[in-house]
Amino acid sequence: MKIDLLTLFPEMFVSPLQFSLLKKAQEKKLVEINIVNIRDFTLDKHKTADDSPFGGGSGMVMKAEPLIMALGSSLPAGKAGVKGQVILMTPSGKKIDQETAKRLAREKHLTIICGHYEGVDQRFVDKYVDEELSIGDYVLTGGELPALVLIDAVCRLIPGVVKEADSIVNDSFYNGLLDYPSYTRPEEFEGIKIPEVLKSGNHREIARWRRKEALKRTLLNRPELLASAGLKEEDKKLLEELILE
Ligand code: ADE
Repeated sequence: MKIDLLTLFPEMFVSPLQFSLLKKAQEKKLVEINIVNIRDFTLDKHKTADDSPFGGGSGMVMKAEPLIMALGSSLPAGKAGVKGQVILMTPSGKKIDQETAKRLAREKHLTIICGHYEGVDQRFVDKYVDEELSIGDYVLTGGELPALVLIDAVCRLIPGVVKEADSIVNDSFYNGLLDYPSYTRPEEFEGIKIPEVLKSGNHREIARWRRKEALKRTLLNRPELLASAGLKEEDKKLLEELILE
């Protein structure tokens, strides 16, 4: 996958992209991330990327021209017009979830634009942006951190990035439920032992316990997820047990 990141603050990406899975994914050439400084495409000597809003009001609006030029610069030569999925990070966008990450992980080329200030000239959005995405119902200072969140969520789903496919399949949200609790050595920590079943070697029982714990967490922390989790008869029985307990 190729990701072009259009930003006014390229330095914000340097360190987060140099560690852990994102670093390995780039080293293994599973992902190529190209950072484009929008300010390099401004037209005046002051490198103005924003201007005041028509109609008045506070805040500044990101200008369309530098964004279009920056977008053009990230296209492969001779492929003008073929730009993959163009995404604008903005608190006014659709909220991302694991399904969004799965869908975007199938794309070959993403262009992610980090919005700033009061917004982006709507004519640019209407003509060049395929989707506007938000990472949640809160306002950050800009789209850089949201872009990193999106890139992280998408890249770990690209085949080969996470070693054991298993650890993705068991993720919270992957199957519509939150993840079950995990334990590692030592068996006893500050007087608390690990659940006995995990030492039993009985894989059916372990799977049942994990499913029940996933249901319990979801019921306690995110009950609204249960309605769309595609629960089976066995799950409903486990939920009844939990409610009685
Ligand atoms: N920019 C500022 N806040 C944001 C959010 N919650 N999601 C995406 N982009 C943003």
